[in-house]
Amino acid sequence: MGMEKYNILIVNGPNLGYIGKREPEIYGNRNIEELALDLKEYLKDEIIKRIDFDLYQSNHEGEIIDRLERAYFDKVDGLIINAGAYTHTSLAIRDCLSWIKIPCVEVHLSNLWARKEDIRHVSLISPICIGVVSGFGIFSYVMAILALVEYLDANR
Ligand code: DQA
Repeated sequence: MGMEKYNILIVNGPNLGYIGKREPEIYGNRNIEELALDLKEYLKDEIIKRIDFDLYQSNHEGEIIDRLERAYFDKVDGLIINAGAYTHTSLAIRDCLSWIKIPCVEVHLSNLWARKEDIRHVSLISPICIGVVSGFGIFSYVMAILALVEYLDANR
């Protein structure tokens, strides 16, 4: 128990390529390269040595779907997704997550429910995810990976 190694794909959707520059008061001041470094730093060795992770970002809905389909054929074990604004609009990404059936944790840098715009309070993808981590900046991704590994261990 607990020694399985997992392939994890982290998908970042539109407008997440320039975090660090984009509204840092909302999304923090760490950039996307620092995200990968922070994940390695924050995740304890026991977790880091049990995962291989690939960090993918695209501003295009169809390309995100193509990447998710590839993850299915590559037999990726788990997904972390921050779909950006597509969270609130994309039935297409939800339909894809729904058929590929790769266990998925939804993440957001900001706390969606503390945001002013009502549309951000609705996620089309949460119903088919294991759970949601929202509001902790880059630490949301750290917690999502911990939760995903725990889930994968329990559901092998
Ligand atoms: C976001 C929240 C979304 O509402 C927004 O459109 C984003 C980023 C977040 O990480 O807080 O692009 O997903």
